[in-house]
Amino acid sequence: MSVDLQSLQKIPRHVALIMDGNGRWAQERGLSRIDGHTEGAQSVRAVLRAAAQAGVEFITVYAFSTENWKRPPKEVEGLMKLLVSSLDAYEQELHDSKIRLRIMGQFERLPLLVRRRLQKTLDATKDYTDHTFIIALSYGSRMEITDAARKIAEKVKAGELKPSDINEQTLSGHLYLPDVPDPELMIRTSGELRLSNFMLWQLSYAEFHITDTYWPDFREEQFFQALEAFNGRDRRYGGVKK
Ligand code: FPP
Repeated sequence: MSVDLQSLQKIPRHVALIMDGNGRWAQERGLSRIDGHTEGAQSVRAVLRAAAQAGVEFITVYAFSTENWKRPPKEVEGLMKLLVSSLDAYEQELHDSKIRLRIMGQFERLPLLVRRRLQKTLDATKDYTDHTFIIALSYGSRMEITDAARKIAEKVKAGELKPSDINEQTLSGHLYLPDVPDPELMIRTSGELRLSNFMLWQLSYAEFHITDTYWPDFREEQFFQALEAFNGRDRRYGGVKK
């Protein structure tokens, strides 16, 4: 049965997604891994559309981890090419739904051509405030937290910050995208029960929705089902039920 969006009492402001299962989806069909990622790029588009429809402000997708550089060069190259062609394909939709693109991760490590293409869309959408589409690229959460600790240490060394003044907000304020609210919902496809070095700090209080569906099969309806499941959760943040 399809989900009635009007019946949902609460819509998370920020949904983070671990897009897993592209390889297995392709293998089951006798296709190449890149075919799986290509179909997965269509799911990203579907989720962007669904999120805009439901009123979710921030969508973050884990497209390429720091560990993914270890994949065969052909797959890494294929993923980079797919990223560029996907941006071309999404561009119109980003403008139509006023979606701002942002990148979270080691931007400098990406190939020059990819950086140039990304920069074009980053610039073209930077004034949109309704929705934000964040692509985690060459992203690793431990690296992000380590980088934040280093930046804080440098401020302490320079006398700009006292160790006794460091609190949770200080750490949050030195992550890659300090102005983005923490995700309230994290979706992982293809059934694995792992965080895989994804937004460890930001997901501290998030609800997790794990589905067996492979990412290329995760479309609008599956996203709405995740929102419905989120509505059934009782969020207490460590407190007691009122
Ligand atoms: C994990 O599946 C998926 C990835 C490492 C890449 C995800 C990338 C896309 C969906 C491409 C498009 C993204 C954007 C933002 C344009 P896997 O290969 O680990 O699958 P497996 O576990 O079944 O092998």
